[in-house]
Amino acid sequence: MKRIITLAMLFVFVQLNAQPSLVPQPVLVELQTGYFELSKTNTISFIGSQSEKIAQMLATKLSISTGYQFLTKEGKSGDIRFKLNTKPDEILGNEGYTLLVNSNTVEISANKPSGLFYGMQTLLQLFPAEIESNKTITAEWKIPSVKITDYPRFGWRGIMLDVSRHFFTKEEVKTHIEQLSKYKFNTFHWHLSDDNGWRVEIKSLPKLTEIGAWRVERNGQFSERANPKPGEPATYGGFYTQEDIKEIVAFANERNVTIVPEIDIPGHSMAAIAAYPELCCTKDTSIKVNPGTPFSEWYADGSFKMLIDNTLNPSDEKVYEFLDKVFTEIAALFPNEYIHVGGDECYKGYWANDPGCQALMKKMNINELEDLQTYFMNRVSNILKSKNKKMLGWDADNELTADATVMCWRGFKGAIEAAKLGHNVVMTPSLWAYLDYQQGELTIEPPVYESLRLKKCYELEPVPDGVDSKYILGGQGNLWAENVPTFRYAQYMTYPRAWSLSEVFWSPKESRNWSSFQNKLEAHFQRADIAEVNYSKAIYDPIINISKKNDKLWLEMECEAPRVDIYYTVDCTMPDIFSSKYTNAIELPDGPITLRTIAYRSGKPIGHLITLTREELEKRVRK
Ligand code: ACM
Repeated sequence: MKRIITLAMLFVFVQLNAQPSLVPQPVLVELQTGYFELSKTNTISFIGSQSEKIAQMLATKLSISTGYQFLTKEGKSGDIRFKLNTKPDEILGNEGYTLLVNSNTVEISANKPSGLFYGMQTLLQLFPAEIESNKTITAEWKIPSVKITDYPRFGWRGIMLDVSRHFFTKEEVKTHIEQLSKYKFNTFHWHLSDDNGWRVEIKSLPKLTEIGAWRVERNGQFSERANPKPGEPATYGGFYTQEDIKEIVAFANERNVTIVPEIDIPGHSMAAIAAYPELCCTKDTSIKVNPGTPFSEWYADGSFKMLIDNTLNPSDEKVYEFLDKVFTEIAALFPNEYIHVGGDECYKGYWANDPGCQALMKKMNINELEDLQTYFMNRVSNILKSKNKKMLGWDADNELTADATVMCWRGFKGAIEAAKLGHNVVMTPSLWAYLDYQQGELTIEPPVYESLRLKKCYELEPVPDGVDSKYILGGQGNLWAENVPTFRYAQYMTYPRAWSLSEVFWSPKESRNWSSFQNKLEAHFQRADIAEVNYSKAIYDPIINISKKNDKLWLEMECEAPRVDIYYTVDCTMPDIFSSKYTNAIELPDGPITLRTIAYRSGKPIGHLITLTREELEKRVRK
C-alpha cells in the first residue's frame, strides 16, 4: 500500500514537473519543485482600477469551472496577486509579464495591464485543461511552481476574419476574439466588405446595409453557385450596427485586442455597387450582392477578368464623396490608428473603356491603368489622413502611397521590395498564413485551391533575409470565408494553425522548435475539447509523398502528430495493425493498386482512412 502511495505521489510529482505545455512558448520558463493548489478560500488582489478589471476577469473565469467564489480585493496580500510595476521593467515592454508561482502564492507583474492580461492567460494554461470548462467540474486545481519571464517578439500578432463571404454574428465574433486572445493575438483584422456582403452600418449611406448586406440564399461550393433569379428575395446575410461595433471594440479592448477594419476598395466592391450602382463605370443597375457565382476568370499568367463590374470608378468625384462618408464613420468607430483599404485584385477592364477614366488619365498624364489605381489610392490616403488615420493595404501591382503600411500576402518578394522603399510591413504570405487553405489530406478535407499544413505555418519566418526587422511589424493568419459557412467551421480552419502562428509571432525565434510544439499540441486539443472550441485533427492523417524512379512509384509517409504508427495496404484490403507498418520509403507494386492508409496510436485508429487509387497516386508524383 505504502509503495502504491509513493508511486502515486511520484506520478503527481512527475506530472507537475514536466515542462508545461504553454502556447505560445514563453521567453523563459524556470520550473521549480512543488505546486500551488487553488482552494475555495483564495483571494485575488490588485492595485488600481486597471488591474481590478483583470483580477475580476480571472475571478469570474476560475469560478465557472471550479465552482468556487473568489474574492477580489485592493492591496498586495491576495493568494493570487496582480501587480503593476511602479518602475517599468525595460525587458518586459508593454505586453510582457513575469509570473511567479510558489506553494503559497501566485504573483503576476507587468508594466501595463496588457502584460497582466497575458500573465493571466499563461497562468490559466498552467491549470489542468478542465479550467476551460463552461460549467462546474471537478479536477485537482494544481499548478507547478514556476518562474516565467515573457514578452512578445512582434507587436502585431493578428488574425483576419472575412465576414463578407459568410456572415458571423456579433456573439460569434466576440467568442473568436476571446479565444484568440488566450493565445496572445492582439490584432483582429475585420474584413467588413467585399463582393458578397457589406457588413457595417454606415448611417449616412443606409442602402449599404439595406441592400448590400443581403444576398440570395445559396448552398454548395462557392464560385460554382447559380446567379440570382429575377425578383428572387435576398435573404442571406446580416451586418453589425454601430452599437454592435462599439460593443465588440470594447470587448476586444478588455482583452488587449485592437481591431483593424477593412473596407476593400476599389475592387471587391460588388456589394457596395449593388446598393449604389452609380459608383462603378458601368452603372449597371442589375448588379446584385454576389452569392458565390463564377464571376471571375483567372489565367495562368496571374491575370484575371471580372465578368461583373465590382470596381469603383476612380474618375468620379462622387466616389470620393462616398468614401469620405464611409471613412468618417469607420474612423469614429474604431480607435485603431489604421484603416485597411484593400487594394488587391482590382480588375481594370471597365476603367479601360470608360470615357471618364480616359479623360482623367489624359488630364493627369497617367499612362498605365495600374497608375490610375495609384491615383485612386492617393486620394483615399488623403481622405484617411483627414480623419487622422493611417492607410494599410494589400500588396498589389500598383504603388501604395509612401507612408502606407503594406500587408504582404503574395510571398516574400513584395515584403522585401516594400521594406526597401521604407514601408512598414505586416507579413501574411499566403502559402504560410492563409487559414482558408486545406490543412489535411486533399481527398478528405472539403476542397480549396491550395494546401497549408500546420508545420508549414510553424515554419513561417516573418523577417525575410536581408530586411531590417524594424520594418516588420509582425504578421497575421487570414481566414477568407468563401468556404466557411458556419462559425464552428471557422474555428476548425483556424485551429490548430493559429496556435502555430501564435508561436511564430510571439516566441523568440531561437526557442521555436517544431518537435516541442508537436508535443504540446494535444494538451491544447484537450483544452479546446473542454471549452467546446472546434479544431482540425488533420495532424493524425498521414501526409503522402509520391515520387517516381525508373517508372516505379515510391511512397513516403509522415504524420504531423507525435507517437503514431502508420499502417497501410496496397492489396485492396482494409488496413489495421496487422497490415504493413510504414517505416521507410517503399516501392509500390505495378498494377491497378489502391493505397489505403491510416494512423494508429497505442493500437487504436486515430486518423482518417485515406484511400488513393493508382491514378490519384500518379497525379501526386513530385516533379
Ligand atoms: C487577397 O488574398 N486577395 C488579399
